[in-house]
Amino acid sequence: MAPVKLTSKTGFCFGVRRAVTMAEAALDKKKPICSLGSIIHNRQVVEELSRKGLKVIRDVRALKGNMVVISSHGISPKVARSILDKGVKIVDTTCPFVLNAQKITRRLSEGGYKVLIVGDARHPEVRALVDFAPGNAIVVKNKEDVKALKLSHNDRVGIISQTTQSTSNFLDVVKEISAYKPKELRVINTICNDAEERQGAAREIAKVVDLMLVVGGKDSANTKRLFEVCKAISNNTHLIETEKQLKNEWFRSGKVVGITSGASTPDWIIKKIVDKIKQKGVV
Ligand code: F3S
Repeated sequence: MAPVKLTSKTGFCFGVRRAVTMAEAALDKKKPICSLGSIIHNRQVVEELSRKGLKVIRDVRALKGNMVVISSHGISPKVARSILDKGVKIVDTTCPFVLNAQKITRRLSEGGYKVLIVGDARHPEVRALVDFAPGNAIVVKNKEDVKALKLSHNDRVGIISQTTQSTSNFLDVVKEISAYKPKELRVINTICNDAEERQGAAREIAKVVDLMLVVGGKDSANTKRLFEVCKAISNNTHLIETEKQLKNEWFRSGKVVGITSGASTPDWIIKKIVDKIKQKGVV
């Protein structure tokens, strides 16, 4: 039987738990309801909520009914306005840490700063953040992206981060920007504690196991980050969504298996994976 070590942080983070609880509470009162995009980045949980009556739509134009759930990643002010203009009530599950990043983005932009957002430009959280600094936001993924920017010494720059970025990537970008010596530089670390603690806990376990499993949705930004963090330590790291993706060749008798999970992975998926490894020894 392969011994299994779970990191000290697995399962839902505070923001995801809150979003799922709010969606379920709304469904208790009324169903079906639409959700604008997936409320969290975990296919299995979204499917479960869909069975309970939460129907995912991708565009406000597809909205039906007088209530919509918006995701833990938040939405742009423009989209919120277009929903409210239709007289539709919003069940806002935006994580409070994301709301904080939105407020800071708006404040920096209104204060005349060029807002640099460290993150993935295609992620819904970042797409919404950009709209909190209309015409004033630039998204950079890493320090390489900074090299392509045309910054001037007269710029006043404010740097914030997508909440689930890694601290080291954020600091690399900050260092790169400082080298340009902008007229003024404000750095506000909006990385969520949960993401940092999860990465730290995963790093510790990845160092001492033979095989590292990162459990989470393929679209989940914090899961991808965790995977990168673990892969940098152990090449024998795999990203899986469910127990069905466990592969026999990953296991040899006596191997120690480490498990971490993204913030939108429910405990029941992790339990199924642990049970499968423990029961069968090998898959
Ligand atoms: Fe919020 Fe952090 Fe989770 S930003 S959704 S508590 S990973």
